[in-house]
Amino acid sequence: MGLNLTYTAGQTPLTAEELDDLKIKTISTRGDLDELEQQNIEKAQEWLLSRKLSADKIFSEDFIFELHRRMLGEVWSWAGHTRRSNKNIGVDWTEIPIHLRNLLADAKYWVANQTFSNDHIAILFKLRIVKIHCFPNGNGRHSRLMADTIIEKIYGGELFTWGSGNLIQKGQTRSNYLAALKVGDGNSIGELIKFARS
Ligand SMILES: Nc1ncnc2c1ncn2[C@@H]1O[C@H](COP(=O)(O)OP(=O)(O)O)[C@@H](O)[C@H]1O
Ligand SMILES: [Mg+2]
Repeated sequence: MGLNLTYTAGQTPLTAEELDDLKIKTISTRGDLDELEQQNIEKAQEWLLSRKLSADKIFSEDFIFELHRRMLGEVWSWAGHTRRSNKNIGVDWTEIPIHLRNLLADAKYWVANQTFSNDHIAILFKLRIVKIHCFPNGNGRHSRLMADTIIEKIYGGELFTWGSGNLIQKGQTRSNYLAALKVGDGNSIGELIKFARS
């Protein structure tokens, strides 16, 4: 037995070793896995609710990794740890620390100098971190929760609606999301901001 997953467009497959890090060995279908991961992520969202977080805290390695661990740590033992394999998306895994450090420095600068609008900063951060792809999996969900955290905790703004549909399963909302991500090359993120507020 074991988990035999199929992947849809825009998902990053796990290596055999990463799959082996599943903590709950009774899971055998994608549906079960999606549900357990979702329950774990909701706990992370609850944990976030009660917390006051400054920009310096949010834009720290500690927080980025802790958030991922809280989102998926009950399901996967690699949660909260940098990936150690290359994926079809993301930088070479050995270069994750340097890319992340640059992003965190940039983000602190944008906030301190109000370089862009609040939504622009949150979505640009989301795009850049998902392009680094720090983790074996869950990068998309983690990047969206980071954007929500930035907008809510730093700016006291309204959470993003992310297309108001299902982003995990195949469908129109996910296709629109992936299309907006592809348009975003770091400079043209208008489509992704529009999507996040739709
Ligand atoms: N071309 C792309 N450019 C940037 N990000 C992308 C692209 N294609 C997919 N993604 C992001 O990567 C995510 C897939 O990475 P993954 O680690 O599997 O995250 P999750 O498991 O949360 O979906 C997608 O959900 C999407 O957010
Ligand atoms: Mg995935």
